[in-house]
Amino acid sequence: MANFTTKKISVAMDGPASAGKSSIARVLADDLGFLYLSTGELYRSFTYACLNNGYYVTSPETLLAVLRHLDFSYNVIDTQQGKRLQVALNKKDITPYLHEKNISKFTPKVACYPNIRAYFRQIQQDLATNYDIVMEGRDICSVVLPDATFKFYIDASPEARASRRCKQLNDISNYDKVLAEIKQRDKLDMERETCPLKAYSADTHDDIVYIDTSYKTLPESIDTVKTIVQQGLDKINLDNTQQKSTQLEKQSF
Ligand code: C5P
Repeated sequence: MANFTTKKISVAMDGPASAGKSSIARVLADDLGFLYLSTGELYRSFTYACLNNGYYVTSPETLLAVLRHLDFSYNVIDTQQGKRLQVALNKKDITPYLHEKNISKFTPKVACYPNIRAYFRQIQQDLATNYDIVMEGRDICSVVLPDATFKFYIDASPEARASRRCKQLNDISNYDKVLAEIKQRDKLDMERETCPLKAYSADTHDDIVYIDTSYKTLPESIDTVKTIVQQGLDKINLDNTQQKSTQLEKQSF
């Protein structure tokens, strides 16, 4: 008899930086008891190692050799909030350092190499095989988990994202600079050759749910995503129950 519980549930979420996808993904994962995975943190971990060890890119091949040589470990841990990935380098937890400004600046450069992406993609896909997961990034719906149970594109205008960033930093005086940085990061992520961030809009016809958070509060955006996922999960559970009872009926004849 088929085992209906073995297939893991995956929620894939893509979108540009500061559109709110990390916050939405984290809350959703914690509510559902799923693993929350920020794939950006994997790329960031490698940038951290390069910057702290003074590695310079001479070729994609040397970069991959460096990556393989490093003593990284990626462990799923249970925290008070929920399931998270802890990134350790030489046994030291480096997760708290991954969002430093310099790392945000250089990560798009590291993340553009096909062989580096392939290395991290394998880790991401292995995690999705083993855990119910909410995974966010740039190429999750298109490349990493094209068959994800749920797919979302979380968007917001560059201006809305820049104001949010400034509010977080409590410094509106740098709005123009922050806006320029956001646009530059979008450009690098969208125009690279390998696995670029694909832009979606409300008019794109695809199996991806497009959500523009520009004029929504965070709780509103979270609610929108949660409702869609909860309805989908209810349907999956109902289908599974019906399938099970059909099989039981067949067996009893
Ligand atoms: O999501 P986050 O802002 O932490 O990602 C940091 C950088 O990592 C992005 O700007 C992007 O260049 C890269 N990234 C990527 N593919 C992903 C996730 C992140 O290229 N799936």
